[in-house]
Amino acid sequence: MSKIYEALKKAEEERERGRARTVGPATSSALTDPGAVIQEDYQRLRASVLSMTVPAGLHTILLVSAQHGEGTTTVALGLAMALARERETRVLLMEANLRSPSLKTLLPVPTSFGLSDYALGRAAPEAIVTRVDEWNLSVIPAGTQPATTVAVEAIEALLARLQTQFDFVVIDGPPVNVYADAAVIGSKVDGVILVFEADRTPVTDAESAKRQLDRVGARILGVVLNRQRSYIPAFLENLL
Ligand SMILES: Nc1ncnc2c1ncn2[C@@H]1O[C@H](COP(=O)(O)OP(=O)(O)OP(=O)(O)O)[C@@H](O)[C@H]1O
Ligand SMILES: [Mg+2]
Repeated sequence: MSKIYEALKKAEEERERGRARTVGPATSSALTDPGAVIQEDYQRLRASVLSMTVPAGLHTILLVSAQHGEGTTTVALGLAMALARERETRVLLMEANLRSPSLKTLLPVPTSFGLSDYALGRAAPEAIVTRVDEWNLSVIPAGTQPATTVAVEAIEALLARLQTQFDFVVIDGPPVNVYADAAVIGSKVDGVILVFEADRTPVTDAESAKRQLDRVGARILGVVLNRQRSYIPAFLENLL
């Protein structure tokens, strides 16, 4: 029995080490070592996304959670980086959560024009894209204006343009149970990935998020269960 315990303990420790590298205060280390954030989980996510999107010709993918803080930005960034690992794949990451933008703390993007500037007609589409060469990523940051939403026609026009220029447009969206614009964007993209936090997002919240996306005819590609933990079963610990 102790061998099983040791194996489980080791797996748990390895998982924790992997998680700390993947996210956590994450990103400062990610800035010096971009490769460190591209972990196995993201490679698996990338493979799932590719298997669903490439054959179907889907280019624009929105990530949303039910509530704040479930990991949408973290997962959107990880997915965009994993997709961009192939140098020839053109990936754009768009920060569409204008109320609580956080990409600038995670990526070396200058405080520059972004989606809010475009929303208010102060910047043209080509002026809001910033390049992060070292990660092979193009980024549309939240921007410099206090706008909180983008008119549906404007987002539609922007997406139409971007999907001719990029293989994938990954969008970090606002929580769908909190802000109506998440579902609006959901209705204009090719697919939506829901991000829920394991052991935290109530089932009713998850159901409500799905309902709102179904209502607007969004195509849900799947769910990322973020911060999933593996535990050593209590009965095993008790036997030791
Ligand atoms: N898998 C994870 N492991 C450890 N920390 C995580 C994980 N996912 C997210 N976090 C941390 O949790 C916090 C919230 O994550 P994040 O900003 O991605 O959530 P969000 O859904 O984008 O929040 P908001 O709705 O405010 O935009 C961040 O500090 C992030 O580093
Ligand atoms: Mg966020």
